[in-house]
Amino acid sequence: MWERAVPRYIYPLPTTMGVPRSLPFDLIVHSAAEELPEADRALITAAHQAALRAYAPYSNFQVGAALQMRDGRVVSGSNQENASFPAGSCAERVALHAAMAFDPHGVVETIAIVVPSASGDRPVAPCGICRQALLEQEQRQGKEPLRLLMAIPNGPVYEVRSAGQLLPLSFDASFLNG
Ligand code: THU
Repeated sequence: MWERAVPRYIYPLPTTMGVPRSLPFDLIVHSAAEELPEADRALITAAHQAALRAYAPYSNFQVGAALQMRDGRVVSGSNQENASFPAGSCAERVALHAAMAFDPHGVVETIAIVVPSASGDRPVAPCGICRQALLEQEQRQGKEPLRLLMAIPNGPVYEVRSAGQLLPLSFDASFLNG
């Protein structure tokens, strides 16, 4: 029997109508990967290595993702493109779906996302579809938040401690069968 995930991000109705209301989003900026604990640095390295295995002949934009699973395994993926462009998949979903196909009860503690070709000081953030997939995974794993690390070589690392924060006011299973 399929269990409905309990949504974690239901925002209460504002008490004052018509007044803009901010929703919480905490971005933690680390000046470099070296600032992070060894496990995070290793995950970023795994994501970087995965990016080098991308199949991205159309965009030439290589992306790697690595998941730290609660059971200690690391599952990585890279973007996989197709001549029929929409048939391609982002690195994040390649890694996430591989992990969950292997273990449907898997818990993702952290996903590291790396774009080796990116320069400057702006780590690449996951696309909207991947945010939706990561949100569903976070809800699927109940109370365990899914943390994100976004990294580029020689640049800062962005950390967001919960996938739900990256997609406020989102669509989720709670709207189905209403
Ligand atoms: N891409 C990812 O793999 N992850 C993202 O978060 C953003 C975009 C891929 C999709 C496509 O293969 C290429 O980057 C250019 O959009």
